[in-house]
Amino acid sequence: MNTFLEKEISELKDTHLYRRLKTLKKIDGVRAVFEGREVLLFCGNDYLGLSRDPRVIDAAVTTAQTHGVGSGAARLISGSTDWHARLEEEIARFKGTAAALLYSSGYLANLGILTALAGKGDVIVMDKLCHASAIDAARLSQATVRVFPHKNYRRCDEILQRNKGARTILVSDSVFSMDGDVADLEELVRLKGKHDGLLVIDDAHGIGVLGSRGRGAAEDSNLTSRIDVTMGTLSKSIGCLGGFAAGSAAMIDYLINFSRPFIFDTSLPPLLCAAASRALELVDQEPEIRMRLWKNIHKVHAGLKKAGYSLAPASSPIIPIVVGGEESALALAEALLREGILVPAVRYPTVPKGKARLRLTVSAAHQDRDIEYVIKALFRVKKHFFSDKIDPLNPFVEETVQ
Ligand SMILES: Cc1ncc(COP(=O)(O)O)c(C=O)c1O
Repeated sequence: MNTFLEKEISELKDTHLYRRLKTLKKIDGVRAVFEGREVLLFCGNDYLGLSRDPRVIDAAVTTAQTHGVGSGAARLISGSTDWHARLEEEIARFKGTAAALLYSSGYLANLGILTALAGKGDVIVMDKLCHASAIDAARLSQATVRVFPHKNYRRCDEILQRNKGARTILVSDSVFSMDGDVADLEELVRLKGKHDGLLVIDDAHGIGVLGSRGRGAAEDSNLTSRIDVTMGTLSKSIGCLGGFAAGSAAMIDYLINFSRPFIFDTSLPPLLCAAASRALELVDQEPEIRMRLWKNIHKVHAGLKKAGYSLAPASSPIIPIVVGGEESALALAEALLREGILVPAVRYPTVPKGKARLRLTVSAAHQDRDIEYVIKALFRVKKHFFSDKIDPLNPFVEETVQ
């Protein structure tokens, strides 16, 4: 057995795909100590900085005192508290659906939704760049899985057409977690209607970020009621932990009864439900936090473009800097670490082989000086990793390089 394990690990090392855990200490918003070095974080998903908000922390602490730390059981046994019900009501209100159901994580939410909705004989049609949790869920469901090229809705249409007669479940992320781009929800809704399927949208990175009130990718187009299940997480912009399904009362009733990762999993601690409830209230009450996030996103984007990086338009806090080779991506991340910035390299299987990248993420908690610092650092390291030469007439050179 050991020989097998060692051989597999050694292959990973040879191909620059080996991973090991590294520990962060003294985390203070977007600053931390990493492997003994003070670093600026441009890598998390706490887009609004709510995980450190004193009001969110206070809600967790107060509820720990009244409800304890753990929930002690699955919801259908004795682990369903007033805080679970309150948070579900809050999520349903926030997302504009009749009901919502909590899971212990976003990963489990995807697993729970897709395995309950699809089985043998059904067809799951999904975008190639859907999150791993949706891919794993589709596999586990035993449905036939058909993948369409990223945002290629013509191919999606063809696949749905070819599978007419079967129960089809169309699945897409709203914001793609490693590319930061946004799906065309209108087109997905149209296709699900045309082929009479179900539509499941993973809004993990949309909630708190997109929409005029931060309610997610479907908010401004009024498409929520045409999406059968919106999945989301409380672990990213909401700053806590947990996942949810939001949909009709009948859908949520069905999931309560058929979704195994809900039925057989100990429920979220009430302290986290209270914290997430408070965080959702803050998204509503303080839109200026989201405005600051978007201001920061546009600043980082504009700065990196000026520094010579070619980027897709800014549509979320996720800014991928695609390097290509796994070894180069690791070296670029290492070079940034030497500059005191933590942006890990993302490699296969998180992204396709040969498309390794830095996944830079922006938070409302970043200050102007943090943003200026990361842009300058990326400018300094650029020439070692990208073949195209920096234009000496680029105004950025005069402004920032001494
Ligand atoms: C698009 C997407 N869906 C689902 C998940 C899983 O959510 P969680 O981290 O809350 O388990 C993630 C997390 O990385 C994600 O990016």
